[in-house]
Amino acid sequence: MSASFAKTSVKRIGLLTGGGDAPGLNAVIRAVVKSAAHHGCKTIGLEDSFNGLIEPDRCRVLAPRDVTGILRIGGTILGTTNRGNPFAFPIETTVGTRDYSERCVEMFQELKLDALVVIGGDGTLSIADRFWQLGIPLVCVPKTIDNDIPETTNTFGFDTAVSFATDAIDRLHTTAEAHHRVMVVEVMGRYAGWIALYAGVAGGADVILIPEIPFDLSKVAKHIVDRDTFGARFSIVVVAEGAKPVGGEVSVVQPASGALVERLGGIAARVAAQLEEATGKESRFVVLGHLQRGGAPTSFDRMLATRFGARAVELVLAGQFGTMIAFHPPDIVAVPLDRIVGRTKNVPLDSDVIRTARAMGITLGD
Ligand code: F6P
Repeated sequence: MSASFAKTSVKRIGLLTGGGDAPGLNAVIRAVVKSAAHHGCKTIGLEDSFNGLIEPDRCRVLAPRDVTGILRIGGTILGTTNRGNPFAFPIETTVGTRDYSERCVEMFQELKLDALVVIGGDGTLSIADRFWQLGIPLVCVPKTIDNDIPETTNTFGFDTAVSFATDAIDRLHTTAEAHHRVMVVEVMGRYAGWIALYAGVAGGADVILIPEIPFDLSKVAKHIVDRDTFGARFSIVVVAEGAKPVGGEVSVVQPASGALVERLGGIAARVAAQLEEATGKESRFVVLGHLQRGGAPTSFDRMLATRFGARAVELVLAGQFGTMIAFHPPDIVAVPLDRIVGRTKNVPLDSDVIRTARAMGITLGD
């Protein structure tokens, strides 16, 4: 489909960040603003995702001086939300939600924008795809610590989250060993096990439980007891928030309601209690939670984010709309949005990282 509002020369680019934050968002914003200026274009920053196109006065011109110094800062200077779908905007009436998509299209025109750069994860990308189908010329930049967006080997934020979780696992090793305990650490990732698998292997965990491989607790307990018999009296268990036992369900702290997706959490507490019971060993758990999304991006994420932002502007100028930037090492490429929307990139069961984990003596609970 070609965008009906697309113009041949682009002068004003709207920019927004949507969904949960990820370290590197500011690096993309900086890269878009600087590249746009380099090519003689203005960037208009829209606040709190698509809310910047719903509510008046929620946008501002971003000049290169406005993005100086933000490369290394977590969060997003534009703000974000994962509750602001304009096609089903939550409102406090009995109606529940309202469709503000037409207003967004009107605002896009009133602001005299020529294109949008949308930085977001799966939810934001599917909203963007709907606006693309309504004729808004846009290019998307994939973002999530979960690394679960298809067609790109990496999203920025993932490396930072894995580095943080690895550091946490390193710290847990010393206290686990001192007390001869089982330490269970819960990491984010939604329904994909990328963070757990990478941080678990990098941190030298003994057990890694991921959503892609439902676990058998008795096998995990046996592995921990076996370690005892050869003198390793402690164990580190990394569990993804979306992991579940064979035949069981994921642990949910808040069920989905309306436009809001379910919130995962609580699996580490369950696993720790069951392991204590099954092994007789004292067990503790820790949930890393939103700490994984905070702090400065790693150099890898800064590079990826900067390359994504610069490439997004190139695509806008080339009129390659309805696309998402992707990392196909060593290249940054464009992928049609319709190849992304509605899909999740899980850890392939034949992945070399899974084989490597097993070769390192790590139990995956199967
Ligand atoms: O998608 C990123 C993520 O951090 C997931 O790993 C996690 O399940 C979710 O967002 C948490 O969302 P919220 O910030 O709404 O609690």
